[in-house]
Amino acid sequence: MEHNWQIRILDTIEELHKVEELQRIVWPGSDTDVVPAHLLITVVHNGGLVLGALPPGDHNGSIDRLVGFVFGFPGLYSTPDGPRPKHCSHMLGVHPDYQGQRLGFSLKRAQWQMVRHQGIDRITWTYDPLLSRNAYLNISLLGAVCSTYLRELYGEMRDGLNIGLPSDRFEVDWWVNTQRVQRRLSKKARLNLDLAHFFAAGAEVINPTRLDDNGWPIPAESVNFSTIDSAGDQESMIVLVEIPADYLALKEANIELARKWRFSSREIFERLFQSGYLVTDFVHLRGENPRSYYVFSHGEGTL
Ligand SMILES: CC(C)(COP(=O)(O)OP(=O)(O)OC[C@H]1O[C@@H](n2cnc3c(N)ncnc32)[C@H](O)[C@@H]1OP(=O)(O)O)[C@@H](O)C(=O)NCCC(=O)NCCS
Repeated sequence: MEHNWQIRILDTIEELHKVEELQRIVWPGSDTDVVPAHLLITVVHNGGLVLGALPPGDHNGSIDRLVGFVFGFPGLYSTPDGPRPKHCSHMLGVHPDYQGQRLGFSLKRAQWQMVRHQGIDRITWTYDPLLSRNAYLNISLLGAVCSTYLRELYGEMRDGLNIGLPSDRFEVDWWVNTQRVQRRLSKKARLNLDLAHFFAAGAEVINPTRLDDNGWPIPAESVNFSTIDSAGDQESMIVLVEIPADYLALKEANIELARKWRFSSREIFERLFQSGYLVTDFVHLRGENPRSYYVFSHGEGTL
């Protein structure tokens, strides 16, 4: 359910100190990974954007009640015609007590509105591809796409969410002026596609997983790469890749299994991107035994 969060630009040093504090709550355990207020304010004074959210109905609007923020800055990307501007979104954080209430979505939508006004048509950011909630938000709700896998992008990370695992990331592209993105951000609910829709279109899960005795998913021993290789010029080919529905809990329970997932999924994702596939959707089946799947399509370069 979406609330009427109060979202506004943060541009004073007091407000940006609150963003520092919120980072420590969202990513506990590593003070050196916090983006400090002095850097945030410099970025904000030079074309960057920090948006903050207060709970609905908080009419005195005190920054003490900051519950979410998104932070990004202008950057460049290369094209055959030379560099072009983009917005690089670096952090999105929601206070743990407020997660799962469409606040992340609302902050990204506000960022989308602001960046469009700057005349920029592309926003990029990175996230851990094994985090199902982030994937669902980025790909399914926001309509970002992905064709880039970055190994160990941030080296060794020490905060509580990342410690102990190689910091591999997807870099997503959010083409903010496309119909695809505008439709996902419109108030009209989107038809929620489940696996049956994709199976009906000939899709196949290439890494069928099973659960261990504790109910954790085990990466497939053999991945059906022949599907990828035989796609050739079948532009309509769709491939599904399963990931754990709750990787953070799995990591907490069994770090070795979490590492196996990192390496097995790395191989699959890299192979798919090398073969011209891109991530175009994400399916999360809710319920007692939730399951999560990336949807890869072939050759949809111009979405
Ligand atoms: C990732 C984060 C920013 C998302 O913010 P949020 O306010 O919790 O997200 P939203 O509620 O807008 O959207 C999340 C969606 O994922 C769904 N979801 C929850 N758990 C899920 C899971 N395990 N798999 C798939 N989807 C899941 C939610 O139900 C919601 O969808 P819905 O509104 O259709 O029900 C927030 O959880 C957070 O701060 N996490 C820690 C830091 C982080 O990972 N930051 C991003 C990388 S920098």
